[in-house]
Amino acid sequence: MHSTEWSDEAFCRIIEDFPVLNREVNGKRLVYLDNAASTLKSSTVISKMTDFYLNHYSNIHRAVHTLASEATSEYEAARDKVARFINAQSEEVIFTSGTTMGINALVNSLVRSDILQKGDTVLISQVEHHANLVPWLRLSKFFGFKVEYIEADVTGTITPDSILAAKSRVNSPKVVSITGQSNVTGQTMPIDVIRETFKDAILIIDGAQLIPHKKIDVKALDIDFLVFSGHKMIAPTGIGALYGKRALLEKLEPFLYGGEMIDKVTFEDVTFNVLPYKFEAGTQDIGGAVALGYTIDYLENFGLGNIQKHVEELSKYLLEELSKIDFVEIYGPRDETHQSLVSFNVDGVHPHDVSQVLDEDFGIATRSGHHCAQPLMSVLARGSHIDFPNSTVRASVYFYNRKEDIDILVEGLKYIKRWFG
Ligand code: ALA
Repeated sequence: MHSTEWSDEAFCRIIEDFPVLNREVNGKRLVYLDNAASTLKSSTVISKMTDFYLNHYSNIHRAVHTLASEATSEYEAARDKVARFINAQSEEVIFTSGTTMGINALVNSLVRSDILQKGDTVLISQVEHHANLVPWLRLSKFFGFKVEYIEADVTGTITPDSILAAKSRVNSPKVVSITGQSNVTGQTMPIDVIRETFKDAILIIDGAQLIPHKKIDVKALDIDFLVFSGHKMIAPTGIGALYGKRALLEKLEPFLYGGEMIDKVTFEDVTFNVLPYKFEAGTQDIGGAVALGYTIDYLENFGLGNIQKHVEELSKYLLEELSKIDFVEIYGPRDETHQSLVSFNVDGVHPHDVSQVLDEDFGIATRSGHHCAQPLMSVLARGSHIDFPNSTVRASVYFYNRKEDIDILVEGLKYIKRWFG
């Protein structure tokens, strides 16, 4: 196992595979610290996907010719890889366009199946991305279920006490839907504690930020549904997966109707195909799914343990280095649960200005704004010691980043404070 930095040889291989890392931005070497929004793409994965499209592509499941059979095999092999990656069965994996579609699909299916009914409670947390908040909020208005929150403290952290307080307030929610890792505070959630606390609830995990760098075992964690996106783990955009326990998927009404998801159709009625096809109406993003499979091959070849360790060490360094700067206010927990990203503000400079100067003068890509978590901004404002701008700057790392990238970020922030603060 390496320590903190990849060896020069390993890093050369990474650079070769992510050519954009050789690019200059505004006259500087690109420092890509916007991985929580979307990761860079690998030439290995793209070449394999290109070869699939150019030499093996056809529609899947529908025809008996050779190309159809090759494309179907690749597509189903990708499903098997996703299943193995999260320790599920292949029939329990449904391809989606990503996390947002996965959650919207689940909310719709749960209400259409009468599993989630009028008067039931759905418990989410105050740190959720809009993707795991807006669908619940909106559909609660049509279907009459209630939405309650596990409250965050003023640093935006979900504590064991806040989980217990939610338990005594809500008692037995029908559904608990929570992020595996906040895209704003970087906090990795105690999924095991949440599962233990809400034993009878249907547990949905938004794995978008967590799964790129940490193994999620759906069986060990007793997760009922898991959703995630490929584009945050070097796969192309537009592809992701929804995992569901077989027994629950069997009970769920599909969220999308059309071709391929049926068994028998008459002018009067319809019966559905078996799992997982019941949930894959229409022509899927076949190339995207296949590429997600190649991505999993890539990450496994690289070593998921190595990636996790590298991200952990880099996260610690990022948090420590930013903590040393007195004009930087950091949000989220100050311990090892804070992973892969840090949200912060430079006292006296608007986050968009910080992000822009980092890009223009240092070639650093960060994200600034409310990070699709507007309600959480009001929580952070309460704990802030600065004139809180209702948004933050966010720096997020992945396995191709180095300590040097963080040193350049620190240099950039000091420059910004000196000239603009
Ligand atoms: N969900 C992505 C982010 O946090 C887009 O930036």
